[in-house]
Amino acid sequence: MVARARTSSRDLLGAPSGDGTTRELDARFVWHPLAEPGSADAGSLRVAVRARGHFVEDDRGRLYLDAMAGLWCVNVGYGRREIADAVLRQMTELPYFPHTWANRPAARLAARLAGLLDASRATPGGWRVFFVQSGSEANEAAIKVARAYHRARRGGGARAKVIGRHLAYHGFTLATLAAGGMPERSLGFEPLPAGFVRVPPPYCYRCPFGLTYPRCGVACARAVAAAIEGEGPESVAAVLVEPIQSGAGVFDPPDEYLPMVAEACRRHGVLLMVDEVITGFGRTGRMFGHEWWGVEPDVVTMAKGLASGYAPIGAMAATREVWGAFTVEGAMGATSGLAQVSTFGGHAASAAAALANIDIIEREGLAENARRVGERLKEGLRTLFRHAVVGDVRGRGLLLALELVADRASRAPLAERLAAEVVERCLEAGVIVGRTAHVAPGRGQVLTFAPPLTWSEDEARELVLALDFALSRLGGE
Ligand SMILES: Cc1ncc(COP(=O)(O)O)c(C=O)c1O
Repeated sequence: MVARARTSSRDLLGAPSGDGTTRELDARFVWHPLAEPGSADAGSLRVAVRARGHFVEDDRGRLYLDAMAGLWCVNVGYGRREIADAVLRQMTELPYFPHTWANRPAARLAARLAGLLDASRATPGGWRVFFVQSGSEANEAAIKVARAYHRARRGGGARAKVIGRHLAYHGFTLATLAAGGMPERSLGFEPLPAGFVRVPPPYCYRCPFGLTYPRCGVACARAVAAAIEGEGPESVAAVLVEPIQSGAGVFDPPDEYLPMVAEACRRHGVLLMVDEVITGFGRTGRMFGHEWWGVEPDVVTMAKGLASGYAPIGAMAATREVWGAFTVEGAMGATSGLAQVSTFGGHAASAAAALANIDIIEREGLAENARRVGERLKEGLRTLFRHAVVGDVRGRGLLLALELVADRASRAPLAERLAAEVVERCLEAGVIVGRTAHVAPGRGQVLTFAPPLTWSEDEARELVLALDFALSRLGGE
């Protein structure tokens, strides 16, 4: 029988505020993501109270160096007054108004994003930007647009399928879960919507084809073309990929990969939709991850680093070719407009946060800094090969991963329990690192690093020292 909590919320609201109260309220009432409800008691909960620069402080006064920038998103670091000031100014002027009207910051932000997206293209995209609150919604909107685009277009037919990749993550809504491929995040919610096809990812360390680069001929990229052809190109609306598939352990693909995928899309009239939710806004050492490979996507989705977590905001940008189909002219009068609306889309204060955030990224050259410090950090991580459990170090910019193995020769994954122990030991050493939890059975052995892009070599060294400490004590070593 389930014990009934005797204390009502009214009793608790009357209690004096303070850290003890936060713990008690949280332990009783909050349903945290990726955890059993009530799995942490009030004593073992971690409570974040403030953050400055690269550090987060808990309610016991302990400081942690945050090597994950929250959830891969606080690109400019914590405590940026100028973002807070911009939000305050906008909040007092006009916090919000439905985006069926225009507002100043959202219009400026759309223009700014269009400029950033064009910076690396040979042909300007003629972008239009649809605003939402999160990465999930940006991808959900992109999937809907891809389907509607083909229907609206003259001769577009019934192309509806979206091709994604195993182990990918594109969000927590049903369609984005279907476009991704993390069984542990979708099993409980099946059936997922129909019309999604998955291909193996470019995971070279554990090649799904059992091949080795470059002799593989980039079989994973050819698999995308094969899937389009196998499904019948006239049934496929889009391919949705991250430039570097991050959530399951940062799969930095071979250089040929993205261009080959883009070419297959072009050849078959399929939209290339690039999910820049993690890889955008300087994270990989370029403003957008896809710039590394010179591809020209039709749709780009963004969130996380767009406002560095200072405000919830996401965006879906589409080229003229795509949005043009939704005009009366483009649709030959058949359909026009885009019948989707989000109450908070184009939120003025969130857009103001994003503009101030992008100012910082550009003014401080944070993409370039991510590239430089990322190289140093990667070198530092490679020194950890002296620990037998380190199997692979990969990634670029400040988007890196270290894969743990039980045996380097066979690449047998390290037991999840031991990988979790490394994360705990890093916390003991005062450093927050990520791990690929809740992905798929037997996939919890990859440590991930996505710190603020403001890191210097000092912070990179501190992370490597913490990992060294954690790995040397692994399993009571
Ligand atoms: C690549 C990618 N796309 C989309 C999302 C979903 O973003 P959100 O959590 O803001 O909905 C995530 C979240 O981690 C992500 O990593």
